[in-house]
Amino acid sequence: MTKPSVSQSSPVPRRSSVDASASTVQEGAESADQSHCGAAGALEHLREVDRRHLWHAFTPMRTYVPFIIERAEGFELIDVDGRRYLDAESSLWCSVHGHGEPHIDAAIRAQLDRVAHVTLLGMTSDTTVRLTEQLLQRAPGFERVFYSSDGACAVEVALKLAFEYWHRIDPGTAKRKFLSFDAAYHGDTIGTLSVGGIDRFNRVFSPLFYDVIRGPCPDSYRPLSEDSTADALELYLTQARGLIAAHAGELAAVVIEPLVQCAAGIVTHPPGFLQGVAECCREHGVLLIADEIAVGCGRTGTWIACSQENVTPDLLCLGKGLSAGYLPLAATLVSPRIAEAFEGTDETPGVFCHGHTFGGNPLACAAALASLELIDRNDVLENVRERSRQLLDALAPLRAHPHVGDIRGRGLAIAVELVEEANSKRRFAASRRVGQRVCERATAAGVWLRPLQDIVVLMPPLAIDASNIERIAQVLIASVEEELGSA
Ligand SMILES: Cc1ncc(COP(=O)(O)O)c(C=O)c1O
Repeated sequence: MTKPSVSQSSPVPRRSSVDASASTVQEGAESADQSHCGAAGALEHLREVDRRHLWHAFTPMRTYVPFIIERAEGFELIDVDGRRYLDAESSLWCSVHGHGEPHIDAAIRAQLDRVAHVTLLGMTSDTTVRLTEQLLQRAPGFERVFYSSDGACAVEVALKLAFEYWHRIDPGTAKRKFLSFDAAYHGDTIGTLSVGGIDRFNRVFSPLFYDVIRGPCPDSYRPLSEDSTADALELYLTQARGLIAAHAGELAAVVIEPLVQCAAGIVTHPPGFLQGVAECCREHGVLLIADEIAVGCGRTGTWIACSQENVTPDLLCLGKGLSAGYLPLAATLVSPRIAEAFEGTDETPGVFCHGHTFGGNPLACAAALASLELIDRNDVLENVRERSRQLLDALAPLRAHPHVGDIRGRGLAIAVELVEEANSKRRFAASRRVGQRVCERATAAGVWLRPLQDIVVLMPPLAIDASNIERIAQVLIASVEEELGSA
């Protein structure tokens, strides 16, 4: 599949708050294409409505500068002024083959000609059934698929299924709690925030949360003990095992982001941690929920991240890349023993009282099926592994930079952590907005990036080509050097 490469000239978006005169990465502005959105007055109106009335997620609205995308081609987003940006965040971690992929577009159109929506309450579409079969073939060990529309819903479903599973086995069960990890992110509903561990997202809502047992975040860069002789895996596993063993009688499930905690800042777990936790859960009769919304669907180089540690969880959550970033779709894959507990009998029906209006929507499932065909046909998983190595190699010059603390990741989930001082790992003051400023420079140079505080997150589409990976690395290196000086 050929993708257009990013124009070598660098557009200068209006949105950058970085001083353009101080930035060589912003040089070479190209003239804007003719906008589909019409005359200057109409564009100003759009921007005004956006600024005043559209509420953007995780965005400070007082300082928001309208950034309106009109169309996209391949790996590029094109704004209303015709400026092009390489989509290095995969439209928030979900684009797989890029935008406007003809095979997926055609599959959605063909589905649209048949039926746009069929509820899953008591019926389904043939497309949704076909996707179900594909998902179960690609992730052996599961029996049923429960569909929803967003990652948070898929996790919420897993939490409720785990809770109700134990209740169905024994209505008087004490197994009603969950164990999750510090800095975890599982979505923004109250149920998923409760098991989340990112303080700045949780703080205000915490009075609404249910009680959760917390394990330390198995962070390889900032380990629990700075004693370099201590084995990080052993330290974290000992803690997790201790908590699971101590609370086994009251634990319904452990919920974990396998291998990488992406929203925490691409925090990588010591290899073996997932497997150790899975073994401990099995030993103590605790269910394991793998939240693969971010790391699944090929993002870490295998279809399912858990397979890298030979783990089959009891519940597996997929979202984001499942429909290749086209339409809202998420899924919770359910193990045979949990599915069986919900079978019910003639006297007691096995209804799971949960549903989402658009769960398993046929248009979204058609996109997902077409995406799976492309993943196979173009060997996208191998591409993820190759492009991952390439990106890490291309970023290597930054390792010597005094303000680059760490470069890490798995597959195409990679981060560059910027720090005040690399040796001590001391963070910059938040008020300096260093990560934000570096990303603004990169965006001004035509590579759209978003930070998580001072961690620059690189999450390009899984089918990205070598030249665009090179461009991401070059633009990021230039942006870091312009903001923070050379190595
Ligand atoms: C690990 C993980 N779980 C759940 C979610 C929530 O997904 P959604 O935004 O689709 O609700 C995310 C989103 O980033 C995530 O990274």
